[in-house]
This record gives sequence, structure tokens and C-alpha cells, in this order.
Amino acid sequence: MTILLKTIDNPLKRLESVAKKDKLEKEFWDKKAERCLLNFDEGLFRYDENEEFPPRHQYFYSLLENIQGKRILDCCCGYGFTTVKCAKRGAHVTSLDISPRMIELAKKNAEFNNVSQYVNLKVMSVQKMSFEDNIFDYAVGIGALHHLNLGLSGKEISRVLKVGGKAIFLEPRIPFRWIMILRSFIPIRCLESPGGGSLSDRDILQFSRYFSTFRVQYFLFLRKLFRFPVLRRFESKSDSIDFYLINKFQFLKKFCWAFVLEFTK
Ligand SMILES: C[S@@+](CC[C@H](N)C(=O)[O-])C[C@H]1O[C@@H](n2cnc3c(N)ncnc32)[C@H](O)[C@@H]1O
Repeated sequence: MTILLKTIDNPLKRLESVAKKDKLEKEFWDKKAERCLLNFDEGLFRYDENEEFPPRHQYFYSLLENIQGKRILDCCCGYGFTTVKCAKRGAHVTSLDISPRMIELAKKNAEFNNVSQYVNLKVMSVQKMSFEDNIFDYAVGIGALHHLNLGLSGKEISRVLKVGGKAIFLEPRIPFRWIMILRSFIPIRCLESPGGGSLSDRDILQFSRYFSTFRVQYFLFLRKLFRFPVLRRFESKSDSIDFYLINKFQFLKKFCWAFVLEFTK
């Protein structure tokens, strides 16, 4: 069993060497950004206030509605989608990524969408930040925590947040470990980066040690099934089916594949 788990799990999740994990992440995301930088697609990057989001994103951004004038830390900002969104809502955003090429792309994105004056972009690891204590109102991230060492990043994020400040993340979740075993036999390509991997409820408990309270909202119950070709034509309906089911039958949250986490310092 242990050997099987070692084979199928993302081995980097177990690596104690944060430096090695960060190096591989940097290389992986630099390459991804490189492609977008060479061929900057304005259509993809143009900010649209009325863009429709799936329920988990809607919920995540609904927690960031009143951020005018607030100081936001965008963790693992990538190409800066959340950065631009928060800046458009009048926040002052400091955005970090470990990949220099991603930061270049985020800079281009901020310039293209005319929010550069509200945005401060830095190549920096969330696990070791050079900021003073207690300076941010919010720390946010989409697909961020599952790339990080939770002990180091939890401590750092809590340190730089003001007392009463919020850390809000939208992350992929592993409902059960045995599902990962089954998953390894299904011939659908894994899209995850070398240092990434889904989070379990136990991981979140570890992260929550650095905060006074936390709340969880669950998403994606059946959604993953709609990646199978035979079900793909129903994909557009899958979000609303999920949303209805999860809210109607609370026990289904155990089986969900994503969550929005809200921690308060
Ligand atoms: C899945 S992407 C998320 C990007 C972005 N939040 C979004 O919604 O598009 C993960 C990002 O985390 C960054 N990353 C990985 N490890 C990091 C670390 N230790 N500190 C900061 N950023 C990191 C990667 O370079 C990558 O850009």
C-alpha cells in the first residue's frame, strides 16, 4: 500500500526540501509564462467587469467586494487575474510569484488593463516574505496554497496580516486518499505542476493553526465526472447541478473537489 501511494502521489508533496520544490515550480511556471509573453493575446487578458464565473469563483470574489482602499496581498499571483480584479475594485495590491516570467506577464497584464498604479509586483516566495508584520488587510490566492509548504506559508501569511485581517483562498481538494489510487488508473492527463497537489481537510487544519478562526465552503461534487468524453456535452450544466446538490445535501461536502477557505487572524 505504501509503495503504491508513493508511486501515485505527487512525490514533491513529501519533499522536505522547500528549495528543490521552489526551483522546480519556478522552472515550470517560467516556461508557461514564456509562451504567453511571446504571443500576448489581448482578447484573453482584457478585463471584463461582467465576466461570468463558475460558482466557486463567484463565491471567492464575493468575499472581496468591499476592498476599496484596502491593502491586499495576492499570493502566487501567476499572470495576475486576481491582482487586476482587486485593483479594479480600488484596492492597493501587492502580488507575489516565485516565477520571474510570471511576474513579467502580470506586469504586462496590469499595464494592459490600466491598473499599474495600484499594483506592486514582486518575485518572492510566499514562504519567506520580506514585508513588515501586520500590514495587509487581506491575503488572497486562487490555486495558491496547494503549491506551498503550509507550515511556512501559514506562519508568514499570518505574520504580514493585520489583526482581524483575512486570508481567502480557492483551492483544489482531495476528498479521499483512495480516490487518488483509482485516479492513477484513469488515462486522463494530470495537469498539475511539479510542486502542486490537492489539499486534504487535514492539511487545512495544519494551516489554520496560525489563525484565530476559519470557515470553509465546498464546491465541485460531480464536476470532475464531466471530463469524461461521454458526459462532456452536459458540462455547461455541471456547475449549477453541483451547486444545487451540495447546498441541499450538506453531507456531500465530504466528496467535493474544491473549497474556498476563509481564515481570520
Ligand atoms: C496555479 S498558478 C496560480 C496563478 C494565479 N493565482 C491564478 O489564479 O491564475 C500557481 C502559481 O504559484 C506560483 N508559486 C509556486 N510556488 C510559489 C511560492 N513558493 N511563492 C510564490 N509563488 C509560487 C507559481 O509560479 C504559479 O504562478
